[in-house]
Amino acid sequence: MHRKDFIRKFGYLAVALPASTYLFNSCAGLYYASFVEEDGALRIPKSEFLQEKGGKQIEREMVVVQNRSMGYPIGVFRTPDGGYKASLMRCTHRGCELSIAGSTYSCPCHGSEFDRSGKVLEGPAEENLRSFEITADSENIYVHVS
Ligand code: FES
Repeated sequence: MHRKDFIRKFGYLAVALPASTYLFNSCAGLYYASFVEEDGALRIPKSEFLQEKGGKQIEREMVVVQNRSMGYPIGVFRTPDGGYKASLMRCTHRGCELSIAGSTYSCPCHGSEFDRSGKVLEGPAEENLRSFEITADSENIYVHVS
């Protein structure tokens, strides 16, 4: 096989592999928490925020809840004061599903960004994300979705 033929045939791998690795890694950081829906709330065990890393137990900064009845996932971030913030991962511009980039929500459609509490950081979206009241007891947090 000639060099030009080789590049023509396999050159796309030079672009596709790093891109797919990036996408895989950015998705790999998301943790989909288990939960139980009861009395209009999603009960998430606080233990869902814990993970083993390097032989130590550390706390996740956020988890995602895949609740079908809402039509979009819900992101639940921990806050520095020990609380939680839950936001529907639906962009308020035109309704695209948001992704998570670090500690911000980002929209793949037109680039809007929202902070961990759902507040608009960057347009074109002008409205903050729909957020949910959260209560907690010693074992669980409850995201009140209705
Ligand atoms: S739908 Fe999200 S920025 Fe347009």
